[in-house]
Amino acid sequence: MRERSLLDLDDLTSAEITGILERARRFHDDPPPRNLLRDVCVVNLFFEASTRTFTSFAIAEQRVGADVVALPPGSSSLGKGETIADTAITLAAMGVRVIVTRHPESGFPYRLAESFAGHVINAGDGRHAHPTQALLDLLTLQTEFGKIAGLRVALVGDILHSRVARSNILGLIALGAEVTLVGPHTLLPEAMQRDGVRIARDLDAVLPHIDALMLLRIQRERIAAAVLPSLDDYARNYRLDARRLEALAPGTIVMHPGPYNRGVELTEDVFAFPGWRYAQQVSHGVFVRMAVLDFLVNGAA
Ligand code: ASP
Ligand code: CP
Repeated sequence: MRERSLLDLDDLTSAEITGILERARRFHDDPPPRNLLRDVCVVNLFFEASTRTFTSFAIAEQRVGADVVALPPGSSSLGKGETIADTAITLAAMGVRVIVTRHPESGFPYRLAESFAGHVINAGDGRHAHPTQALLDLLTLQTEFGKIAGLRVALVGDILHSRVARSNILGLIALGAEVTLVGPHTLLPEAMQRDGVRIARDLDAVLPHIDALMLLRIQRERIAAAVLPSLDDYARNYRLDARRLEALAPGTIVMHPGPYNRGVELTEDVFAFPGWRYAQQVSHGVFVRMAVLDFLVNGAA
C-alpha cells in the first residue's frame, strides 16, 4: 500500500485536520519525546526560495529526532538529466522515508508522490497548494478564538496566484468558517466563486464585519509583467493602513503568511496593531510541522 502523503488539505478529513491541530497544540504545551521519528530519514528538497517553511520544517524534523538531509536541487544529479521519478526511486532505495518539497510548478509533489515509496509533504507548489501554511493559520485562529466554526475570515489581495489562499479556503470551509475573498478582478476573478465563499471588491465595506483578516503578497514571480496591477491602485484600494485598522471591530486579528512587502499590502502601522499575529503564525509553523510528520509516519492515534 502506498504511504500517506500531505499534498493539500483535501487529503485530510475534517476530523484529521482537527486531530493534527490538537497534536500541534499538545506539542506546543508539552514538547514530545525527541525519539518520535528516530531512524526516520527526511529529505528537504526545495526548488524555490523559502525562509519560514524550509527553516521550520528543519527545526520540526530535528525536534522529533528525524535524520535530516537538505538536498539543494542545484547540486543534485537532476542537473545531469536524472528525472524526478528516478531521484525518488534513488532516495527510497537509501531508506529515505519522507520528502518535503517546494516547487514552482503546480502539481509537482503529486508527480513525485507517484514515484516515491514514502511520504511526500507539499511545502508549496506553484499557485496550487501550501497545506502546512493553512494548518498553521488554522492553529493561529483556533488559539485566538477557541474555535474555527462560524468565524468570519477575509482573505485579501492576490487570491488568483496564491497557494496559501487555496489551501486556507479548503481548511476554513472544512472546519465551518465563513470565508470572504477580497480583491480586484485581475487578482480575484468571479470564477473563483465557489460554495461557502463570498467575493467582495470593497475592502472598506468588509473590515467592520470580520474576526480575522488574512493579507496576501502579490505573487510577482507568478504574474506576467504586462498584467501586473498598478501598485498605486492596489495600495489605494487594498493596503492595510492606519485608517483601515481603525475600521476593524475590536478583537479582530490580522494575519500574513510572510514574506510581507512593506508599503504594498500593509503599512508599518500594522506592526503596532495589537491584533497583528504574524509572529504567532510563524511560531505555530514548527508545531504544526512536527504534528504532520508524526501523523504521517506514526499514524493517526
Ligand atoms: N510564503 C508563502 C508561499 O510560499 C506566501 C508568499 O510567498 O507570498 O506561498
Ligand atoms: N510563508 C511561507 O511559506 O514563507 P516562505 O516562503 O519564506 O517559506
